[in-house]
Amino acid sequence: MARLTVNNEPVEYLMVADTPLLWALRDGSNLTGAKYGCGAGSCGACTVDVDGRAVRSCQLPLSRCEGAFVTTIEGLSRERDHPVQLALVAENVVQCGFCIPGIVMAAAALLKRNAMPGEAEIAAAITNICPCGIYPRLVEAIQRAARAQRGDELIPAGAQPGIDPAEAARAVPALTSR
Ligand code: FES
Repeated sequence: MARLTVNNEPVEYLMVADTPLLWALRDGSNLTGAKYGCGAGSCGACTVDVDGRAVRSCQLPLSRCEGAFVTTIEGLSRERDHPVQLALVAENVVQCGFCIPGIVMAAAALLKRNAMPGEAEIAAAITNICPCGIYPRLVEAIQRAARAQRGDELIPAGAQPGIDPAEAARAVPALTSR
């Protein structure tokens, strides 16, 4: 059991303490943007923001989440217009899309602490695995997002993929309470 704040909503997960945060989010809150890839902390598909840091949620048990502020891809921007999201669409980065929520969360966390990341800093921060091989376009997109975040460039919003944000967080009563 753990009480935390998820996408600005207070949530109490009633699952056992060693349940990984990933499963609480996916099964308890229907927040399925964070993906299960390796389950071992290697691939980054499960990355969410916990207290301002990009965290691999498959490796974080609920017992260590008490009082945490968690943001998932669904809560990053209700209008899906975070600079990283806009830049990934504008640069046509996304292929199959499976790893993208984790990459967006890792990139957004990077831009919170580094407004002008170079290639090496991006490579060090974004260790997410993408079997589609998007990395060259991803580096360009993250640097473009950084320029937009600094106000040096305006990225026009294209058609945003995904489900309606209003549908993105339905609590499952047997697993959560509010
Ligand atoms: Fe968590 Fe791969 S599923 S790092």
